[in-house]
Amino acid sequence: MRTGSVQPKLIIHGGAGSSLKGKEGAEAVRRSLFTVVEQVYDLLLSGLDAKSAVIRGCQMLEDDPRFNAGTGSVLQSDGQIRMSASLMDGTTQRFSGIINASRLKNPIELAEFLQNSDDRVLSDIGALELMRELQVPYYDPSTKLRLQEWILEREGNFDKAMAGVVAEQELVSEAGRGTIGVVVLDSQGRLAAGTSTGGKGFERIGRVSDSAMPAGNYANAHAAISCTGIGEHIIEECLATRIVIRVTDGMSLPSAFEKSFWEAESRNRDFGAIGIDATGTIAWGKTSQVLLAAYHDGERMGDTLNMGVEMGTQAQLSHAHQL
Ligand code: GLY
Repeated sequence: MRTGSVQPKLIIHGGAGSSLKGKEGAEAVRRSLFTVVEQVYDLLLSGLDAKSAVIRGCQMLEDDPRFNAGTGSVLQSDGQIRMSASLMDGTTQRFSGIINASRLKNPIELAEFLQNSDDRVLSDIGALELMRELQVPYYDPSTKLRLQEWILEREGNFDKAMAGVVAEQELVSEAGRGTIGVVVLDSQGRLAAGTSTGGKGFERIGRVSDSAMPAGNYANAHAAISCTGIGEHIIEECLATRIVIRVTDGMSLPSAFEKSFWEAESRNRDFGAIGIDATGTIAWGKTSQVLLAAYHDGERMGDTLNMGVEMGTQAQLSHAHQL
């Protein structure tokens, strides 16, 4: 039973990767994603607003050690964890974010606080100062699996470009592009998007992720988008904003995905994105082989885990799907 006049819609992601190895692993990821979809969708049905629903979904995904955000974040080249997150309210078209924050549980909560601040994007020392001011308790987001992954990479002299997309041995091979994201249309027709990440893993100190930029997370009254994948590629395509502006200018959401991913494919980009428009259309796209996304369209839950995996080993190109 919904409370408002609009059927709420929800899509979330837990990253993109090169291939899913084990069926059991895929099942575990699906369970994790569905748990979040179920709980957040229930809140939306009881009238929770889009921004709050995005924050709740991001908190849950950050708290799941399987995904590369919050607990379970990857380690950078110096063995430290630095996390980035952003939140965009489509109704107010207000963006806030935190870049390379350390020692906290939920980076999305700092982005939430900054929604009402004059200075809306803070980085490392600024984040630390804000945590002190808000008395956010120190928290160690590292996990044994991520630590082992880093030690292995150090032995190999960091020859991998980045860490695994999810923190599970043998689940996703080599190059991973972990990030989490939540996109919502609430029962009043409001849109919002949130994205959070531990970064690429093994990166240089000071590297800035797309997840706390409008390139990786963007929303207005027409559409909301969250991206995952190689941050540098997402920034160079300005992907989230590109799709939202296309919809704002009159293109349908599936067409905006189609065109943006066709362009991305021609430039050998490696990423994925999820989105919803003001009419309630849900869409996703990827140039990566797999996109770990799940959704609720008002009638049922579904996911994208097997799309492009069962069929092939080659990169699945230019996918844009309307659900
Ligand atoms: N998309 C996450 C990152 O590259 O940091």
